Amino acid sequence: MTQQISGLFKNLATALLIVLSLTSFAQEISSDPAIIAEGEALFKANCQACHRVKQKLIGPALAGVYDRAPSMDWIKNFVRNSSKVIASGDEYANKIYEENGKTLMTSFTSFTDDQIMAIMAYTKAEAEKPEEVPAVAAGGDSGTGSGVPTTYLNAILVGMVVILVLLLVILGLIINALKRYLDQKDLSEEDKEVVHSPFSIGSIVQSPGFIFLVVFLVASISFKTVIDGLFTIGVQQGYAPKQPIAFSHKIHAGQYEIDCKYCHTGVMKGRSANIPSPNICMNCHTQIRKGTITGESEIAKIVAAVENNKPIEWVRIHNLPDLAYFNHAQHVNVAGVECQTCHGPIEEMDVVKQYSLLTMGWCIDCHRKTYVNTKGNAYYDNLLELHNNKAMKVEDIGGLECAKCHY
Ligand code: HEC
Ligand code: HEC
Ligand code: HEC
Ligand code: HEC
Ligand code: HEC
Ligand code: HEC
Repeated sequence: MTQQISGLFKNLATALLIVLSLTSFAQEISSDPAIIAEGEALFKANCQACHRVKQKLIGPALAGVYDRAPSMDWIKNFVRNSSKVIASGDEYANKIYEENGKTLMTSFTSFTDDQIMAIMAYTKAEAEKPEEVPAVAAGGDSGTGSGVPTTYLNAILVGMVVILVLLLVILGLIINALKRYLDQKDLSEEDKEVVHSPFSIGSIVQSPGFIFLVVFLVASISFKTVIDGLFTIGVQQGYAPKQPIAFSHKIHAGQYEIDCKYCHTGVMKGRSANIPSPNICMNCHTQIRKGTITGESEIAKIVAAVENNKPIEWVRIHNLPDLAYFNHAQHVNVAGVECQTCHGPIEEMDVVKQYSLLTMGWCIDCHRKTYVNTKGNAYYDNLLELHNNKAMKVEDIGGLECAKCHY
């Protein structure tokens, strides 16, 4: 009797196990666009640094993992803590670990099942997309700020010089023609002398034309210098110091599309964006020891910094005076402003330069023009009601109050 019961239990348990494993296999990869979009955002922010869908980068191409990996649960465990899976002796994990030069993948301990499934949904959708014809790069960057007046002035100055030279040439030609014409006339000795008097330096220097030319040139050059000066008082726009390591955003953020947040870890959480520590560099550079452009010399400096436990002394570029308070999270996370709006096309820069003015006028100007991003932010529900649900600009929520930006 007891045997029968325990046998029954055993059967029940196996049945249960089978059902469980069936449900876990039956976990379909979703093709819901909303889930794919969520997966895309997660992928770009967390995985793109090392993975592409169709190419190998630091890690394998992710297209098809959902078919080649032992199971969906295996993928979930691996993403949350790959070193644990490798250490457990799992055959597949150790195989890919070897194949990828024993690079450890970052652990994403806090990722939920749904998040990992969303990434898989994105990966699958992306893998099944037909090859795209590369789009023609959108040209024309409108740019902002005061680069414009300087270029204008330069163009005007060059134009004027060209016109002046042309005028001089034409004048010379006219003088020659006149001389030849006068030679054919019967002139008194006195007049002939005047016509043929050689150009003396003295007479040129004293001529009204020459004096006008000199005054004009001096005036326009000093005008340009003063205007340039006015535009740059206390302003470091365009500042692009040489850095201790020839780190290039064009390679990392541009060519390899590593997300800004992968290195500048503070932007979503706090005031400062943070410059990455050498350890973040080493996530990839334990493997990559040679650059296409600089060879081994620059990357060796990162390795040396890590081995000697010394920070890399990056030269700070953007720097507000102490009296002003600026918070990245408020702008990037709450307001959803793109890095490029304030920092320009960083992903095209080999050497970072200060793109915006960073003056008080620059901050205020944007707060006057920009609407607050109230979508999906419960904090703004009451305020919106008070404003009769009309869109609010930053100035309407106090963005022009001195105390918001000054201690
Ligand atoms: C720092 C680089 C890095 C990041 C970031 C990273 N991975 Fe990986 N990933 C790897 C490497 C390297 C491997 C190969 C296995 C190994 O060496 O441990 C790998 C392997 C994998 C595999 C198994 C691939 C296969 O062919 O079976 C999956 C799945 C995976 N990663 C998913 C992700 C997901 C999802 C993210 C983002 C949430 C992510 N990875 C972020 C480096 C990374
Ligand atoms: C691989 C890591 C990495 C990635 C990815 C990255 N950065 Fe950087 N960033 C750095 C390092 C290192 C510095 C300091 C050296 C320098 O100025 O080039 C820096 C400097 C900067 C600076 C200037 C900081 C200062 O001193 O004022 C800005 C602005 C910046 N990054 C913005 C971005 C933006 C925007 C992106 C995304 C498009 C991005 N970064 C992606 C590593 C990274
Ligand atoms: C997510 C991976 C990743 C991270 C993180 C990363 N790099 Fe790189 N880095 C690369 C890749 C990929 C290359 C391109 C290698 C090549 O040129 O073939 C590269 C190239 C370089 C080069 C050589 C460029 C050349 O072409 O000569 C330097 C220098 C460099 N990185 C510095 C850094 C520094 C400093 C950090 C940390 C702030 C960093 N990298 C973080 C992936 C990374
Ligand atoms: C609304 C404009 C604005 C936006 C958007 C913005 N920044 Fe900044 N950023 C600044 C200002 C202003 C400073 C100078 C801050 C200071 O000196 O206190 C700065 C400084 C920095 C620095 C220098 C060091 C530091 O820790 O502050 C880095 C790196 C940086 N930004 C990266 C980024 C990245 C990456 C993004 C996008 C995720 C971004 N910024 C978005 C305005 C902006
Ligand atoms: C590209 C546009 C832009 C620029 C440039 C900009 N801001 Fe803002 N700022 C915003 C937006 C949008 C918000 C609204 C954020 C929110 O929803 O809370 C904001 C909010 C703020 C707030 C909070 C205001 C409040 O009432 O809660 C402060 C403080 C602030 N910004 C300071 C600055 C400073 C200092 C600068 C210049 C160094 C600056 N901002 C430059 C767009 C900008
Ligand atoms: C949106 C943010 C913001 C608001 C609002 C703001 N300021 Fe400023 N203010 C700044 C920033 C940023 C600087 C530093 C700019 C620089 O160095 O050019 C600054 C600089 C100053 C300076 C120093 C100027 C100098 O040349 O060093 C004074 C004084 C000042 N602000 C007063 C005020 C007063 C008064 C108000 C209120 C009517 C105010 N600010 C509102 C951002 C702000």
